[in-house]
Amino acid sequence: MNLPHSMLELLEQQEIGLHPIYAARVTGLQERNFVTNSKVMRAMNEAMFADNRALAFRLKRHSEHETLGARFIEAIATEHADGQLQEDLLAHAADEYRHGRMFKTIYKEVAATTMTDDFDDHRETVENELAAFDGALVSFLFASHTAEIRNYYLLHQYLELITGVDKPYRHRLEAVLHQVMGDEIRHVVYTARYVNELLAEDPSRAILLDGYLAEYSRMSWQEMALIASYFATREPEPVAVSAL
Ligand SMILES: [Fe+2]
Ligand SMILES: [Fe+2]
Repeated sequence: MNLPHSMLELLEQQEIGLHPIYAARVTGLQERNFVTNSKVMRAMNEAMFADNRALAFRLKRHSEHETLGARFIEAIATEHADGQLQEDLLAHAADEYRHGRMFKTIYKEVAATTMTDDFDDHRETVENELAAFDGALVSFLFASHTAEIRNYYLLHQYLELITGVDKPYRHRLEAVLHQVMGDEIRHVVYTARYVNELLAEDPSRAILLDGYLAEYSRMSWQEMALIASYFATREPEPVAVSAL
């Protein structure tokens, strides 16, 4: 499936006037190792879905990232934005808080199927990011939009991979992923509207889009490295005798 193509179609259906630079960059993602295009990333995520502990570990990270993201967006909304943008950002933050709670509930359910509770090696705070924020709403909107494209890609892949999962939590996890995907689509759409307007105003802002696409691609590889190191530092999960 050509995800950039389906994303551009989605945006056109929402009557977003796509700037040619934007359309070209998104189309170009198909040729790049962006998030889930890579076969290696897909294989890693497949291995993760087959291992309860690795899956719980990643879902917990998603829960934390969603909550941190929510706090960041909320802080930017209240301190740096006003009018319609503030309203949009606060609604966005509320969604991300909800995703944090949903991923937390489901990660606990997945974790309960394992014999381990060593999921706690991840500590991040939003304070550093907030302290580094220079008040540049334009960059923030480009970064947010790129994050939402990443989420759209990742959830799309998760929804494909979950169909091969035969675990007691499968249907509840699938329901969570579908619900989150519905919200992420809204986030992709509204942030795309801002980003395309900003590009129309000043096409040299394409440099922001390029920079954040590269950054989120690197971050996706870092996530893969974390999953790999999760497997590398744990005993193999016992396999049910019937599966041998
Ligand atoms: Fe989210
Ligand atoms: Fe989102």
